[in-house]
Amino acid sequence: MIKIAPSILSADFTCLGAEVEDVLRSGADLVHFDVMDGVFVPNISVGVPVLRSLRKATDAFLDVHLMIVRPLHLVDAFCKAGADLVNFHVEADSEVNILAAIRRAKELGKKTGVTLKPKPPAEVVLPFLDQVAPVLVMTVEPGFRGQRFMEDQMPKLRQIRAWIDARGLACELEVDGGVDVSTASICAANGASVLVAGSAVFGREDRAAAILSIRAAAESALKEN
Ligand code: DX5
Ligand code: ZN
Repeated sequence: MIKIAPSILSADFTCLGAEVEDVLRSGADLVHFDVMDGVFVPNISVGVPVLRSLRKATDAFLDVHLMIVRPLHLVDAFCKAGADLVNFHVEADSEVNILAAIRRAKELGKKTGVTLKPKPPAEVVLPFLDQVAPVLVMTVEPGFRGQRFMEDQMPKLRQIRAWIDARGLACELEVDGGVDVSTASICAANGASVLVAGSAVFGREDRAAAILSIRAAAESALKEN
């Protein structure tokens, strides 16, 4: 079963609550909330106050993707503002501090994930693999929406899927960046179970049709595998 997570980066921020409710009604399984600090990535998006407001407007499961340096300092703030799941980049701090951030988010009752940029090899997730669900593999350089899908990340995705299955972990494998109706099938065929899609959902007038076609493409690739 494939889950579709529209990314708010392509939503209309003047009415974010209504936008999120719209994609939920259109069939989204969860919502991906991108946080950028202008240091870890070369762009700034939104942070704690916007998350807190959005939390009041929706019951959607909020998957918070922290593209920030030293996330340990802000883990309490994001958890208390209403994240359901917090995704930490493994490159954002030392292994010890990322593990501490994961522990803290769990103490606050949240799900946790780890994320890696395109450059690092699959192995960087190994110290975290039995601690988290999901692992999020970036298929663009994080920082901007609407970039081209990096198919060269597929061996990494397959490798992480193989480790998850070999260890019998109930860990989702999430893909973020350039996912649309044509690349969704490539992701699913290589082991992804959660697809983040910004422009390909929020950027479309008929969001229900967009979600339906992305899900159908991914699920048919799963069946063929
Ligand atoms: C990129 C973000 C993504 C982005 C995806 O830094 O993490 O979540 O919004 O946007 P699309 O689907 O348009 O590539
Ligand atoms: Zn993201």
